[in-house]
Amino acid sequence: MLLAGKVGLVTGGGDGIGRATAITFAKDGAKVAVADIRLKAAEETVSLIKALGGEAIAIEADVSNEESVKAMVEKTVATFGSLDCASNNAALGGGFNMIPDVEADNWDRCHSVTLKGVWLCLKYEIPAMLANGGGAIVNIASLSGVRGETMQSPYSAAKGGVIALTRTAAAEYAQKGIRVNAVNPGGIRTKALVGYFKSVPGAEKETAGVHAMRRLGEPEEIADAVAYLCSDRSSFITGHALNVDGGIMVNPHTM
Ligand SMILES: NC(=O)c1ccc[n+]([C@@H]2O[C@H](COP(=O)([O-])OP(=O)(O)OC[C@H]3O[C@@H](n4cnc5c(N)ncnc54)[C@H](O)[C@@H]3O)[C@@H](O)[C@H]2O)c1
Repeated sequence: MLLAGKVGLVTGGGDGIGRATAITFAKDGAKVAVADIRLKAAEETVSLIKALGGEAIAIEADVSNEESVKAMVEKTVATFGSLDCASNNAALGGGFNMIPDVEADNWDRCHSVTLKGVWLCLKYEIPAMLANGGGAIVNIASLSGVRGETMQSPYSAAKGGVIALTRTAAAEYAQKGIRVNAVNPGGIRTKALVGYFKSVPGAEKETAGVHAMRRLGEPEEIADAVAYLCSDRSSFITGHALNVDGGIMVNPHTM
């Protein structure tokens, strides 16, 4: 029960890593606000949490829209009385193209959710946490933001921005009781990735092969790292971007 008595907020909590994080927060004792642009998906996550005996609410929110993010944080605090931990997880890819072929609209759409969305969340989460003496925030970045990613320049640039934003927020609020960290997932078995594997023969084996562990990660393995970084057990960690990647970064060759 890493988060007993705390109130957590997860954006993009209607699916994949966000859903697993919301469920893990609840299993660890937190009350959870599950925010997603798809309300029905957020409600499904809430049902799963309630079935486990946890407490949660669903919030329809678009992280790229300032009014929506403000209302999301206000609803969380109005419902549960405070905000102690948040995982800014919602993101949108920018398609698969070489740099000259990226459409400006695609770039803007990706950045408005993946980078600006994280900044907007920080903008409203931080004052809510300060009002209650502090808290912990974990932004979900990506290894794409650390090492770059061919054909995904909008996404990798946005994720690199998320890591820089994480470090800046950590520095600004280190003395005010708010820790801000990032998690960089490797290849995680979510619906989108499974769909891609179904359409491209051999892709699953190839993707698993870039991890030193020769397997994909599960959403719950990211959620566990997020819960730890949100908990008091990581009280001296801030401004860190933690690779949770089955060893991609130590695996230069496939064997
Ligand atoms: N799956 C992977 O292998 C992987 C690898 C590295 C990083 N990540 C990162 O992990 C996070 C979660 O990824 P996932 O694979 O679970 O994604 P997913 O697509 O399964 O879930 C993302 C959720 O975010 C929601 N969402 C999309 N736009 C939104 C918006 N504007 N406002 C609010 N909610 C919105 C979607 O409705 C969806 O429920 C993302 O930040 C992603 O970039 C994933």
